Amino acid sequence: MFDITKMVIHTMHVSDLDEIRENLTENFDNFWSYEIFKEELVNNNSSYLVARYNDEIVCYGGIKIVLDVADVMNIVTKKDKRNMGFAKFILNELINIAKEERCNSITLEVNENNKPAIHLYEQFDFKQVGLRKNYYDGIDNAILMTLKL
Ligand SMILES: CC(C)(COP(=O)(O)OP(=O)(O)OC[C@H]1O[C@@H](n2cnc3c(N)ncnc32)[C@H](O)[C@@H]1OP(=O)(O)O)[C@@H](O)C(=O)NCCC(=O)NCCS
Repeated sequence: MFDITKMVIHTMHVSDLDEIRENLTENFDNFWSYEIFKEELVNNNSSYLVARYNDEIVCYGGIKIVLDVADVMNIVTKKDKRNMGFAKFILNELINIAKEERCNSITLEVNENNKPAIHLYEQFDFKQVGLRKNYYDGIDNAILMTLKL
């Protein structure tokens, strides 16, 4: 766990992305290119948050809302800051945003081999509702999960 007094969560802007741009892949396992991420951040339907610990960006995540459904687009914790509770914090805030926007559910896809992420989502009561075969690079299956709000 972390010292909550040193933690700040705020909307993620392009300037935040620029701050971590250089080491996005090495430090965060980011799966989007900078350009795609930037487009996501400025999309009107998107809400992205960033968590700072001692002013350092340690985690970010976002949802995209279409009608009454929110989709978790990504949630990533800096590699050397994992298993400290940051993703739980961000996900909790993203769920609150979806509730405030009167969404009825939140959906997401996760690689069936991504145990840390599946564990995270199950903690928030996301339920498995489907499977997309060979979704990731034609190899790994994606589990579809939904949280009813
Ligand atoms: C998935 C991910 C976001 C979790 O971030 P995190 O900040 O380490 O997660 P938290 O510390 O908030 O932990 C959340 C829960 O998952 C558990 N967890 C974290 N890492 C774990 C691991 N390697 N194995 C099993 N459980 C794990 C934690 O123990 C915690 O559960 P608990 O309260 O029962 O202890 C992080 O591993 C990550 O960035 N992965 C790469 C990107 C990714 O795959 N994102 C998800 C797909 S969009």
